[in-house]
Amino acid sequence: MKLLERLKEIEKTAFLEADKAIDLKELEEVKIKYLGRKGILTTMIKNIKGVPKKDRPIVGRSINELKTKFLSLIKEKEQGFREKEQIQFEICDITLPGIKREIGHAHPLITTMEEIIEIFKEMGFRHVDSPEIETEFYNFEALNIPKNHPSRETFHTFYLDNGMLLRSQTSTAQIRIMEKYQPPLQIVHAGKVYRPDAVDASHSFMFYQLEGFMVDRGIVFSDLKGVLERFAKRYFGEDVKMRFRPHFFPFTEPSAEVDISCFLCRGKGCRVCSFKGWLEILGAGMINPRVFEFVKIDPNIYTGFAFGMGIDRISMLKYGIEDIRLFYENDVRFLRQF
Ligand code: PHE
Repeated sequence: MKLLERLKEIEKTAFLEADKAIDLKELEEVKIKYLGRKGILTTMIKNIKGVPKKDRPIVGRSINELKTKFLSLIKEKEQGFREKEQIQFEICDITLPGIKREIGHAHPLITTMEEIIEIFKEMGFRHVDSPEIETEFYNFEALNIPKNHPSRETFHTFYLDNGMLLRSQTSTAQIRIMEKYQPPLQIVHAGKVYRPDAVDASHSFMFYQLEGFMVDRGIVFSDLKGVLERFAKRYFGEDVKMRFRPHFFPFTEPSAEVDISCFLCRGKGCRVCSFKGWLEILGAGMINPRVFEFVKIDPNIYTGFAFGMGIDRISMLKYGIEDIRLFYENDVRFLRQF
């Protein structure tokens, strides 16, 4: 029977077309072409009256069977496309806003550190690096602080299991450099130091120091004063005043603590300087000949000065920060302000 043969042809092309559809839209078009109101199969059913009566049941049944088979294929493919779409949507939702990467900037402590280093570099100092994990020799012995020396107590120190320690001062860099190089030397080094202090508004178990020293023939105390005064004026302003108070450090002799006049109240007294008019910013002195002996520099030929300042404190003074902990809490609301 011709009609049944035609039906076979229709079945072949219909299935082929459905298979070729690459998305829901194309599949829908194929579905309409065969099963729509004016679709090929729908029309054949409508025209069943034109078929000789005796053939009608078999033709009718064949068309209906094909319709059902075709529809279930369409349904199955639709489901497949929907799942694929869903997965793609979940992997990549193109309607979401993109990831905005913020460009960071230097931490205020690092900025302060770099600014200070730059001033010393202008004066001819060379900037060097030095380790944070140290031996007792570099942190104490060679700096003239033997085991039972009482001043060892003032440099509370974290000791490591392997006998090393976290340096409690950057003066270690003096030894590291002087044992390697002969004078003339004019060096700055800055970095982290560690002390197991109770943390409060002005103490942190980790903070930053900057060390500077100069060694050559004929270096005297007034060289130290000149260098520090130039630094203070460049950093805090030309009208800043300095004063040296006698102090004790095992690695310098004589030693001093150095104050600058409060740049906020210009010495009158305010909250920043605790109404003293002066701010302590560093320790300094002439390098102790005992230190030179440790690093095999002849103290009969060479003299030198050294100083060490707390970068955190200077940064707090400069920016009016009242709590050192703010530097280390990683709170971007604080850090964004610099
Ligand atoms: N290292 C000393 C301290 O941490 C500071 C200092 C450095 C003093 C160099 C004199 C000379 O307190």
